[in-house]
Amino acid sequence: MSDRQKTRARPNPRRAFAETYGTVLASGIERRSVLKGFLALTAGAVAMPYLGRTASAAEVSTLTFAELTRVRDREDHWPTGYSRQILARWGDSLFADSPAFDPATLDGKAAERQFGYNNDFTFFMPLPQGSASSEHGLMLVSHEYATPFLMFPGLTADDYREKLTDDQIRAVMASVGLSVFEVKKTNGQWEIVRDGQYNRRIHMGTEMVLSGPAAGDDRLKTKADPTGKTVFGTISNCNGGITPWGTLLSGEEGSMDVFAGDFTTLPNQELVERQGWDEEDNDIYGAGRIEPRFRFEEEPNEWMRFDWVVEIDPLDPTAKPVKRTALGRFTHEGAQCAVAPDGRVVVFMGDDDDFEYLYRFVTRDPWNPTDRAANRDLLDNGTLSLAKFESDGTMRWLPLVAGEGPLTAEAGFATQADVTLNTRAAADLLGATPMDAPEGFVVHPKTGKLYVAMTENEDRLPTGEGDEGEQVNAANPRGPNPHGHLLELVPPGGPDKADFAADSFKWDVFVLCGNPAVAEDGAMFHPATSANGWFTDPDNLSVDPSGRLWVATDGPPPEGIADALFVMDTEGEGRALPKLFYVAPIGSECCSPTFTPDGKTVFISIQHPGELRFEDDEDAASIADAGTSWPDFKQGQPARPALIVLSRDDSAVVGS
Ligand code: FEO
Ligand code: CA
Ligand code: CA
Ligand code: CA
Repeated sequence: MSDRQKTRARPNPRRAFAETYGTVLASGIERRSVLKGFLALTAGAVAMPYLGRTASAAEVSTLTFAELTRVRDREDHWPTGYSRQILARWGDSLFADSPAFDPATLDGKAAERQFGYNNDFTFFMPLPQGSASSEHGLMLVSHEYATPFLMFPGLTADDYREKLTDDQIRAVMASVGLSVFEVKKTNGQWEIVRDGQYNRRIHMGTEMVLSGPAAGDDRLKTKADPTGKTVFGTISNCNGGITPWGTLLSGEEGSMDVFAGDFTTLPNQELVERQGWDEEDNDIYGAGRIEPRFRFEEEPNEWMRFDWVVEIDPLDPTAKPVKRTALGRFTHEGAQCAVAPDGRVVVFMGDDDDFEYLYRFVTRDPWNPTDRAANRDLLDNGTLSLAKFESDGTMRWLPLVAGEGPLTAEAGFATQADVTLNTRAAADLLGATPMDAPEGFVVHPKTGKLYVAMTENEDRLPTGEGDEGEQVNAANPRGPNPHGHLLELVPPGGPDKADFAADSFKWDVFVLCGNPAVAEDGAMFHPATSANGWFTDPDNLSVDPSGRLWVATDGPPPEGIADALFVMDTEGEGRALPKLFYVAPIGSECCSPTFTPDGKTVFISIQHPGELRFEDDEDAASIADAGTSWPDFKQGQPARPALIVLSRDDSAVVGS
């Protein structure tokens, strides 16, 4: 979700948190002080001569492309010697029978056959599955949210709720969710294979299964589903991950915006309390007008059937997606998978709100590499835990298990269903480390290290103010933190036998974002970072086949640049030395860079182009107001979120 959208939709949930759990938290977390050595390092980095006499970027970085200049534009920008292609735009045909895109007549039936809106998670899966094809594959894409007044002509942010037609609402409900479709490279150009056997759209009406500890719980039963095990639709599909057996995990991140009505009248207020809801900003699609289940008073349990991790089998278009409740219920950003040396699968997840937590799920059983079907329900059994960072450079994973520690029946956690339905409240009791809005989480396949992006947290307080959970800590060392940072987590076992399931890891700050030339930013990058290479607001993280780390930002970006994509080495002399690779059109973020196995092609999702006005970076309120109409640039027509492809004209590896 764009940071702007998030701010509108979800005010700081910390308010309720502080009132309800502040006392518990204050007694549960030891008093920390920011590491003196760490501060010295930060100050040292800032004090270093900008592009000083230390080695130059050209001397130490493995990246040789000509770095872009910071730019803020209606168009996108990429390096010299590269070509950019638009592969799929909102409304493009995914099937042989898809109707042509026309926002003036778009309805639900048409949208179900087209590429959806606001593509976020993106993954290139070679075909056949398990092969290393770099010219043929499946694109797995999530469509996080929709902004009706930027999609249909004649609407504004103020009047769209009244003016939306039923057909338009149905179109919106079909334009979010996920797309799976075949792509192929022919004569150097990528194209959608419109009759691909796996092509599929998933949306707010797709039938799904609820599985795991909360499935069948009374609080998940509705009039349409007395079993509590069947759900229609998925909402707010943010980032995700891929399991070792080739299924897609999609994080539902904050579905409450879609519901209408007064949530203060809902039963189970103990579950409502930690949602961070804002009454003014719900019902953003008008879905309750079409389907009563999206009105709180009609179906008081429907909302709890969202904000899970959904598993989708891209190789079986008839398979129902499954919401895996064992992985907890919160504002799921992504779900990055790794395999422990004993074969158990580990899923790393961030809860993207200020002062929320980093989570991990470890399966009970090892995965089966030779029988794909044997892994079908692997994610239903295992241990959910969350991260507590210590100031000595160690961190521990604290298990969230009903009946263990403070998770007692008296505290409201008699069963694992209680824990997974109210994960944030259970997490509060364990005294884990509240983070600065954790988003991207990536496992480096060559080193076994993990990188985590904290986007920002303006409400983080300096030491001595507020309660301890709100104050700076070693892993979130700046208060306020308007620029974000990246942490590096190191499991024991080394690169070849990294034990992602171990109880204890080591950790370090990888970069502190901001402008290294501005002392008060307190930024920490490699001293040779150029005036174009530093960034703020890191969101999605990827590692390419060469082992370089790619960071996509989700602003508001600093003055003079739109959100952008940066790339850097993680090891060697060029460690933490980012270079500016791609700049998105104004108002958009670039999400989920994903690579062909040969590293020669990168696919990038461009989400919410034009969401800001060009004049002043304020929220655009209509198509006419939008900062860009990228990529079509047709007068009076909407900007279109799109999936782009970048490759080098000399066919060498991207980024090198
Ligand atoms: Fe969907 Fe947290 O971005
Ligand atoms: Ca974001
Ligand atoms: Ca994100
Ligand atoms: Ca931001």
